Amino acid sequence: MKQSLLFFLFACVLTLALRTSTATPSLFTNVHSFPLFNSAETGLHMPALGLGTGFYGEQNVPYSTYPECGAEPPGCGPNTQKAVYTWLTKAGGLRLDCANSYYNQRFVAQGIHQSLIDRSEVFILSKVGPTFPLGYNETINQTLDILQELQTTWIDLLLVHWPTMKHPGQSDVPKSSDPACNTTSPLTYNEKDCRLSTWSAMILLFELGIVRSIGVSNYNITHLQEMIDANLPLPSVNQVSFNPYNYRTGRADLQEFCQNNHIQLVAYSPLGVPDVHPYPVTYQNKTLTGMSPTLLQDPVISSIAKFYNRTEAQIILRWMHQLGVASNPRSMNETHMKENLDIFANPFTINDNDMMRIANLAQDTCDVDPDWYECVGNGNLP
Ligand SMILES: NC(=O)c1ccc[n+]([C@@H]2O[C@H](COP(=O)([O-])OP(=O)(O)OC[C@H]3O[C@@H](n4cnc5c(N)ncnc54)[C@H](OP(=O)(O)O)[C@@H]3O)[C@@H](O)[C@H]2O)c1
Ligand SMILES: *[C@@H]1O[C@H](CO)[C@@H](O)[C@H](O)[C@H]1NC(C)=O
Ligand SMILES: *[C@@H]1O[C@H](CO)[C@@H](O)[C@H](O)[C@H]1NC(C)=O
Ligand SMILES: *[C@@H]1O[C@H](CO)[C@@H](O)[C@H](O)[C@H]1NC(C)=O
Ligand SMILES: *[C@@H]1O[C@H](CO)[C@@H](O)[C@H](O)[C@H]1NC(C)=O
Ligand SMILES: *[C@@H]1O[C@H](CO)[C@@H](O)[C@H](O)[C@H]1NC(C)=O
Ligand SMILES: *[C@@H]1O[C@H](CO)[C@@H](O)[C@H](O)[C@H]1NC(C)=O
Ligand SMILES: *[C@@H]1O[C@H](CO)[C@@H](O)[C@H](O)[C@H]1NC(C)=O
Repeated sequence: MKQSLLFFLFACVLTLALRTSTATPSLFTNVHSFPLFNSAETGLHMPALGLGTGFYGEQNVPYSTYPECGAEPPGCGPNTQKAVYTWLTKAGGLRLDCANSYYNQRFVAQGIHQSLIDRSEVFILSKVGPTFPLGYNETINQTLDILQELQTTWIDLLLVHWPTMKHPGQSDVPKSSDPACNTTSPLTYNEKDCRLSTWSAMILLFELGIVRSIGVSNYNITHLQEMIDANLPLPSVNQVSFNPYNYRTGRADLQEFCQNNHIQLVAYSPLGVPDVHPYPVTYQNKTLTGMSPTLLQDPVISSIAKFYNRTEAQIILRWMHQLGVASNPRSMNETHMKENLDIFANPFTINDNDMMRIANLAQDTCDVDPDWYECVGNGNLP
C-alpha cells in the first residue's frame, strides 16, 4: 500500500505539472463535443463520438466473432491496438472508451503510442469495476493500475462501471475490503453505502486532479437520486446501453432525469450490438417473429437511411446526437469508423417526424446479460 501511495502522489504532482503546461480551455472543441458539468474541470469537453474498445460478455466469455476483450483471451489485445491506431490516425477519432474490465488497456496504450499522437489530444475514458471490486481503497487502487496500464498520468473521464458488486453476468463476486462492499460481511455490506463509499473515492481522485471528470455507468434513477440525497457532487456522465429499440423502455425517462441534473448521457451498444444480438429473439422458448434480424436491418431505419442518402448506422448515431446523447460504437473496420464520424464532418438533420418514428420503433430486446439486456417487451413479447 505504501508503495502504491507513493506512486499515487507522484502521479498527482506529475499530472498537475503536465496539465498546467499543456491544457488549453479549447481542448476537444474542434470536433463535435459536449461540455461536461458537475464533477468535471471547468470548460472540459468530451468528444461526442468515441471508439468502444471492449465488450462485456456473460461470465466474461467473449461472445462476438471478434476475439473480444471480456476476459483475457490471446488475440484480443492486438485487435484492440489496431482498432485504436486506425481510429486515431485514419479516422480522426479522439475519444477512447476503455475499462479496467476489458483487460486490454496495455494494448490501447500501445495503439496510442504507435499513432504518435500526443496524449493530451486523446480523450481517455476508463472505468473501475465490475470484475474488480468496488470500495474506497479499491477505487484508488484500480485507478493507479489503470494509469500504469494506459501509460498515462491522468484520465479524462473515469466512470464507476456498474452500480452493484454482484454483476449479473459474472459468476465470481470480487472481494472488497471496504466494509460496505464486502459481500461476505452481511452486517456491514450494503449496496447503497458501497456506491456512496466508492463515489467518495472518485471525488477524491477528481479533487487531486488525477482524473479530469468523473461519472457512472449503468446507473438508474434510484442510484442517481441517492447521490442527490447524500448531497454529493453529481457525476458528469452516465453511460448506459441506449439505442432506438430500448428508448421507450426506460431510457427516455432516464435521459430526462439526467438532463435536469446536467448529467451527460453516453450510449453504449448504440447500434444494438449487431454482431451478437440475435433477432428475432427467443424468449421462454418462443421465437418471436416479425422482427428485424438486427437494428441495422430495421425496415424503418433503412427507409429513413435511403431518404437521407446515409447508412443505417449513420441514421442511428445522428438520431442519438440530435437527442443530445454521446455514443461510442465499437468497430474494427476503418470504413465504418469514418462513416460513423462522418455524421459530424458531413452533417445532416433528421426531421422531427423521422426522429419520432425512430424513437417509437417497437422491438423486444433480449440479450445474454440477464439484467441489463433482459427481455423488455415493448411490443411483441408474448
Ligand atoms: N459501460 C458498459 O457497461 C458497457 C457495456 C457494453 C459496451 N460498452 C462499451 O460500448 C462499446 C460499444 O458497444 P458494443 O460493442 O456493445 O456494441 P455496438 O457498438 O452497438 O456494436 C458493435 C458492432 O457494430 C458494428 N459497426 C460499427 N460501426 C458500424 C457501421 N458504421 N456499419 C455497420 N456496422 C458497424 C461493428 O462491426 P465492425 O467492427 O465490422 O465495424 C460491431 O460488430 C463497447 O466496445 C464498450 O466500449 C460499455
Ligand atoms: C491493487 O490491488 C491488486 C490486487 O490486490 C494488486 O495486484 C495491485 O498491485 C494493486 N495496485 C496498486 C497500485 O497498489
Ligand atoms: C470481509 O468481511 C469478512 C467478515 O468480517 C472478513 O473475514 C474478510 O476478511 C473481509 N474481506 C476482505 C477482503 O477484507
Ligand atoms: C483504506 O486504506 C487505508 C490506508 O491503508 C486504511 O487506513 C483504511 O482503513 C482503509 N479503508 C478501508 C475502508 O478499508
Ligand atoms: C435501480 O436498480 C436497483 C437495483 O440496484 C433497484 O432496486 C431499483 O428499483 C432500480 N430503480 C429504477 C428506477 O429502476
Ligand atoms: C424451455 O425448454 C427447455 C428444454 O426443453 C426446458 O427445460 C425449459 O423449462 C423451457 N423453458 C420455458 C420457460 O418454457
Ligand atoms: C449519396 O451519397 C453518396 C455517398 O456519399 C454520393 O456519392 C451520392 O452522390 C449521393 N446521392 C445523392 C442522390 O445525393
Ligand atoms: C468494412 O466495411 C465495408 C462496408 O460495410 C465492407 O465493404 C468491407 O468489406 C469491410 N472490411 C472488412 C475488412 O471487413
